[in-house]
Amino acid sequence: MKNDIEEVLFSEDEIKNRVSAIAQKLTVDYKHKNLTVVGVLNGSLVFLSDLIRQMPLPVKIDTVKANTYSGTSTTSAAKTEIIHNIDVNVKDEHVLIVDDILDTGKTLSEIIRMLTEYNPLSIKVCVLLNKSARREREIEPDYCCFEIEDKFVVGYGLDFDNRYRNLPYIAVLRESIMIAPKPFKLKKL
Ligand code: IMP
Ligand code: MG
Repeated sequence: MKNDIEEVLFSEDEIKNRVSAIAQKLTVDYKHKNLTVVGVLNGSLVFLSDLIRQMPLPVKIDTVKANTYSGTSTTSAAKTEIIHNIDVNVKDEHVLIVDDILDTGKTLSEIIRMLTEYNPLSIKVCVLLNKSARREREIEPDYCCFEIEDKFVVGYGLDFDNRYRNLPYIAVLRESIMIAPKPFKLKKL
């Protein structure tokens, strides 16, 4: 995987420090409040699991899944579809939506619209990355670890063609990989 990387934008240590800082802020802000953390699958998986383990609060955890872009494309599809919804009742809860990246804003604005129908006490958004240059909806994160330029990034949950999510850092892929992704050769175990 390392050979496919052009540049590391945020190292493992930088991510660790920012995630801790955001977790501390959230712990203060949501102390004595009923909090349901809603992770957006699959991109938030790594960020979500590190974040919640640093929040010593009795939080409820749930997930949603939205279809934003398909196949190997590096841009969001025009339409956002919710394909997995929350199970818990959030009527008496404050909701914190956690996602990997706020890009055009289509996914998160649709998820907010959908969760608003359950009448939670509040809805806030926490993202690992904010790519504001590409925004198409009026939405800003309430909590954000890093601002990034208009570059397609992978790692720490973010994927290209559903791969690279398990990289422990955030990186830019080599252009040749994004033009023609290599088929991964399977070895017999
Ligand atoms: P939005 O609806 O355009 O804000 O797109 C949000 C979704 O697009 C994210 O949850 C990601 O799954 C995906 N996405 C946007 N930018 C990137 C990127 O740079 N790398 C990987 N995925 C991305
Ligand atoms: Mg995603």
